[in-house]
Amino acid sequence: MKILITGGAGFIGSHLSHRLVDEGHRVTVFDNLSTGLKSNIADLIGTENFTFVEGTILDEPTVIQVMKDKDLVIHLAASVGVKLIMDEPLKSIINNLTGTENVLKIANKNKIKTIIASTSEVYGKNSKVPFSESDDRIMGPTQKTRWSYAESKALDEFIALAYYHEESLPVVITRFFNVIGPKQRSEYGMVVPRFISKALRGQDIEIYGDGNQSRCFSYIDDVVEALVRLINCDKAVGEVINVGCDREISINELADMVIKLTESKSKVTHIDPEKVYGEHFEDMQIRKPDLKKIKNLVNWSPSTTIDLSIKSIIESGDLAA
Ligand SMILES: NC(=O)c1ccc[n+]([C@@H]2O[C@H](COP(=O)([O-])OP(=O)(O)OC[C@H]3O[C@@H](n4cnc5c(N)ncnc54)[C@H](O)[C@@H]3O)[C@@H](O)[C@H]2O)c1
Repeated sequence: MKILITGGAGFIGSHLSHRLVDEGHRVTVFDNLSTGLKSNIADLIGTENFTFVEGTILDEPTVIQVMKDKDLVIHLAASVGVKLIMDEPLKSIINNLTGTENVLKIANKNKIKTIIASTSEVYGKNSKVPFSESDDRIMGPTQKTRWSYAESKALDEFIALAYYHEESLPVVITRFFNVIGPKQRSEYGMVVPRFISKALRGQDIEIYGDGNQSRCFSYIDDVVEALVRLINCDKAVGEVINVGCDREISINELADMVIKLTESKSKVTHIDPEKVYGEHFEDMQIRKPDLKKIKNLVNWSPSTTIDLSIKSIIESGDLAA
């Protein structure tokens, strides 16, 4: 297949690019290198089945160019990371909304199947455990900037589903839950690379809040495997699908595990998240996916444990910081 990956120089996109090229597909990565890095795909550049195009999804004529003759679009390009969203809300909202609108509009002209990356953030403050795909979304007020990411991604989902229902555009929406792995950058607010970077330097690990909040971290190789299976699954078209891991860990336990696995002398401190992100921040206690749907569709479930994931990030030495 000829596949376009928007945001393919980023964390998830670069791993996926390698896997799809290995499988014999012809992959074009389209990325503006805002948070992505050319070094993530350096070994692919110049190889026969790979093309890198630098540009933005906000620029319609270039998107039309890169989408020409493609059989599949995997749309990952977005403004991602709590810190980035809090620092640059306007840019992020426009990027995530207008960019996705462009990608879907142009894909629809040629009816190119499109996979859209969404997020567990769309469930918002709902306290249900676990989240299944049709659960309610409970959002905070618009004054809390953090919710703008969830809202922009939810609108992306609405637009994609509208294209599916009104225009018969084949779309698949994947809601990722805290993906981790080598190449993930620490500076945009991602907790695992931030903790590992600090631990390796012997610096204090700062936990935002009391650390009792928990998350379910999924390992990049598992997520790439899920995406590859979903690409080939006709029954996934028109569906919203959770992709993640259903084993939770508290942020306190995570910090302890990172310190142990890095054999670090770092100390753990707790700080008020408002001191880091300002008053326009709010956190959730737990976010856990119900994975029945993806299991039924493509017989996928995550296999990498959190300690193995952390070990592999440490061993790779690749935190893309
Ligand atoms: N990593 C996670 O845990 C996670 C969780 C939920 C959802 N997601 C979604 O998965 C996708 C990939 O995330 P990631 O973790 O790889 O983040 P990332 O920041 O590493 O990747 C995003 C990529 O998009 C590129 N990009 C941003 N704006 C662009 C634009 N206007 N034009 C072209 N390229 C642009 C960036 O340079 C980067 O390479 C995103 O859509 C994100 O919302 C990720």
